Amino acid sequence: MDRALVSSIAHTWHPIAAPVSPSNARTLLRRLGCPPDGDVVDLGCGQGEWLLALLHEQPGVRGTGVDISEPALAGAQTNAGRRGAGGRITWVHADAATWSGGGYDAVICVGASHVFGGLTATLAALRAHLRPGGRVLFGDAIWETPPSPAAQRALEAGPDDYPDLAGFLERVADHDYEVGYGHISTLEEWDDYEWSWTGSLTEWALAENTTEADRLYALEVARSHRSGWLAGYRGQLGFATVVLRT
Ligand SMILES: C[S@@+](CC[C@H](N)C(=O)[O-])C[C@H]1O[C@@H](n2cnc3c(N)ncnc32)[C@H](O)[C@@H]1O
Repeated sequence: MDRALVSSIAHTWHPIAAPVSPSNARTLLRRLGCPPDGDVVDLGCGQGEWLLALLHEQPGVRGTGVDISEPALAGAQTNAGRRGAGGRITWVHADAATWSGGGYDAVICVGASHVFGGLTATLAALRAHLRPGGRVLFGDAIWETPPSPAAQRALEAGPDDYPDLAGFLERVADHDYEVGYGHISTLEEWDDYEWSWTGSLTEWALAENTTEADRLYALEVARSHRSGWLAGYRGQLGFATVVLRT
């Protein structure tokens, strides 16, 4: 099975592909303060949940979602149609690192800093998509505590691969953004996200009429993800989502 398909199935129960609850996502989107008739782009949009939630609150906004995963974009398109937002969002299948669509009033980029080569490169890249005075909603991983060897093994990441919260805020300041609002994911949000990830995949493997090879593969991915999380990085990997003003 293709990893993009596995990821898409794993996000069935928690389509925001980050440890942020729907209610905290709505608060962050309100604090983003996009103009009522503004243009917004979501780089690495996944199944489009951030854009769909924003357009639900602000029906005059026009959205563009960019992602490299065909299964994620197919899900986004279906969800947008079901929620009556199909005509107001353009879905683009492209590498967000090289794609350019002009200037936007707001840029959303959550859980996708790997696309641009890490935190510093992402903070620089997002600015290039902004109109003067534009705003950013940016979410990325941080270390809540210095990572144990088990956490590093599970994530295949070293202590320097993510900053702590202070380091994250320093890099934001280095790029001349002002932090307008923020949210640090709680352990409850992490648990809901990770149980949903492994749970949706397990449910799919046991309930769908699929091949035996795909069923066994999906179950193994779910087991190994769950063990990496529970015995590895739970409580050590954090997630910060901030509204950045220019
Ligand atoms: C952790 S998910 C976050 C999805 C979404 N932002 C959310 O919070 O629900 C990361 C997303 O980045 C996408 N991605 C990975 N590489 C990409 C690239 N080069 N260009 C665009 N999207 C990419 C993945 O397909 C995936 O949907």
